[in-house]
Amino acid sequence: MITMLYRICALLLIMGVAAPTIANDSPEQPVRYNHRFHTEDMGFGCLDCHQNAESHEKAMIPNIEMCGTCHIDEEAENSEVRKVAEYVASGTPIPWQEIHTVPDFVYFTHRRHVTLGKIECQVCHGEVSEMETPFISTAVNMDMEWCMECHEQREVTNDCVSCHR
Ligand code: HEC
Ligand code: HEC
Ligand code: HEC
Ligand code: HEC
Ligand code: HEC
Repeated sequence: MITMLYRICALLLIMGVAAPTIANDSPEQPVRYNHRFHTEDMGFGCLDCHQNAESHEKAMIPNIEMCGTCHIDEEAENSEVRKVAEYVASGTPIPWQEIHTVPDFVYFTHRRHVTLGKIECQVCHGEVSEMETPFISTAVNMDMEWCMECHEQREVTNDCVSCHR
């Protein structure tokens, strides 16, 4: 047991040092989406676009039909808005790069944290409503230590099998 724990620690140390270079090295997003504008200025709430966060594992990015309720003008002055309208007109989903991910061997569900845990999005994702450009990195390093630290504070189980089923 002791040697196993040492191995895990060593593994995590290595991964901790190596992680920033592996994980999505400065990805490009297809459209310059602006969270601040749509939330602060237009008054959308996070759940208006990511409603699955309350009820499912994945929060989901809204589809182009949703964007298309406003962005249909392919001649719009703003070239970023025009891009969205073009995706809408051709029925092509916007190929957003996924930034927040946990590996397949980790069980994480939004419902548990948002609905039952009543944890604000900001705690895990930062001040999204201030962001004027799309995500290219996460606000916090979402590693095992991060999960466990909060679980410890809130007296939630840290049994290996609760996250590694
Ligand atoms: C009008 C729709 C809309 C609203 C409102 C909105 N978002 Fe988003 N969200 C998007 C789109 C589009 C993307 C993909 C582009 C990007 O990364 O900015 C996204 C991406 C994200 C991502 C990153 C997804 C990934 O791939 O890792 C997070 C986290 C997120 N939003 C959280 C929030 C939070 C928190 C709020 C409330 C403060 C919010 N969003 C409000 C549309 C919306
Ligand atoms: C309720 C209407 C509405 C919806 C729904 C909506 N937007 Fe917007 N969006 C606006 C308005 C209004 C503007 C600013 C005026 C303009 O330039 O058209 C804007 C601006 C933008 C811009 C330009 C931002 C900038 O800083 O230049 C982008 C990109 C954009 N929206 C993407 C999206 C995407 C992607 C979706 C779907 C996830 C979406 N919008 C959904 C109304 C909306
Ligand atoms: C306890 C931390 C935590 C909270 C609270 C949280 N998230 Fe997340 N979020 C994560 C993690 C971890 C991932 C990566 C999960 C994965 O790979 O399935 C993620 C991924 C996402 C994604 C991209 C992938 C997906 O699930 O579709 C979006 C969008 C998102 N979160 C939005 C939100 C919104 C909106 C809220 C608030 C209503 C919220 N999150 C609350 C931790 C959190
Ligand atoms: C900011 C605090 C916080 C963070 C960060 C966090 N969690 Fe949690 N987690 C909670 C809370 C609170 C609960 C209990 C929610 C409830 O049911 O009331 C919970 C519950 C869980 C459960 C259910 C546990 C059980 O009882 O079986 C799992 C699984 C889980 N979290 C996985 C994760 C994973 C994986 C991560 C990291 C990717 C993570 N959590 C990050 C606060 C957090
Ligand atoms: C609260 C959730 C949570 C709990 C509890 C948890 N883990 Fe993890 N674990 C994660 C997350 C998230 C990752 C992926 C991110 C990382 O590597 O830090 C991970 C990664 C790992 C890895 C790296 C696997 C690889 O292939 O690189 C090992 C090994 C591991 N966990 C073992 C354990 C053991 C043993 C326990 C019990 C002592 C445990 N975990 C408890 C969330 C958890």
